[in-house]
Amino acid sequence: MSRLDVFIDRMVSQRACLDFAIAETAHLEGPVFELGLGNGRTFDHVREYVQGRPIFVFERAIASNPASTPTEAQTILGDVRDTLPDALARFGPTASLIHADLGGHNLEKNVEFARFISPLIEPLLAVGGLMVSSDRMYFDALTEIALPAGAVPGRCFVYRQDGATG
Ligand SMILES: C[S@@+](CC[C@H](N)C(=O)[O-])C[C@H]1O[C@@H](n2cnc3c(N)ncnc32)[C@H](O)[C@@H]1O
Repeated sequence: MSRLDVFIDRMVSQRACLDFAIAETAHLEGPVFELGLGNGRTFDHVREYVQGRPIFVFERAIASNPASTPTEAQTILGDVRDTLPDALARFGPTASLIHADLGGHNLEKNVEFARFISPLIEPLLAVGGLMVSSDRMYFDALTEIALPAGAVPGRCFVYRQDGATG
């Protein structure tokens, strides 16, 4: 499998998982968090299809296409290892949807980073909220759910906050 194949699978999976997660969480009112702006393609997709929910973008250095750059009020600038704990203090467990695409080319580092930020992300999700990630995450209480049609296994992961069961 070529890098082009992998890239295309990732893009197709991101769109399938985002479309699924946006629809599944449409009844929730809490904010949508986009972790990692990059070029702004997935932010633009979220902005296009999410209705009636505020969107916040977490990014350490803005370098997006000007056509898909969030407003200052939508931007939470800084390293997510600092800004996610701040977001918990600001928003509490209210996020309806969190999308993370923070990984780089080093797969080992991506795993280490995902392990570090999983406990920072987990408490932000509202009950019924979904988390979509390009990397496998390491949550204690979130449930990994089946991928929607069109997503490629291993290229995207979807987790749900089911709430307390006891
Ligand atoms: C792969 S790109 C995101 C691409 C985006 N989904 C798109 O469609 O254009 C990853 C982004 O995550 C950001 N990032 C990586 N680690 C970060 C961290 N610790 N804190 C904040 N942003 C981070 C990088 O700066 C980069 O812009």
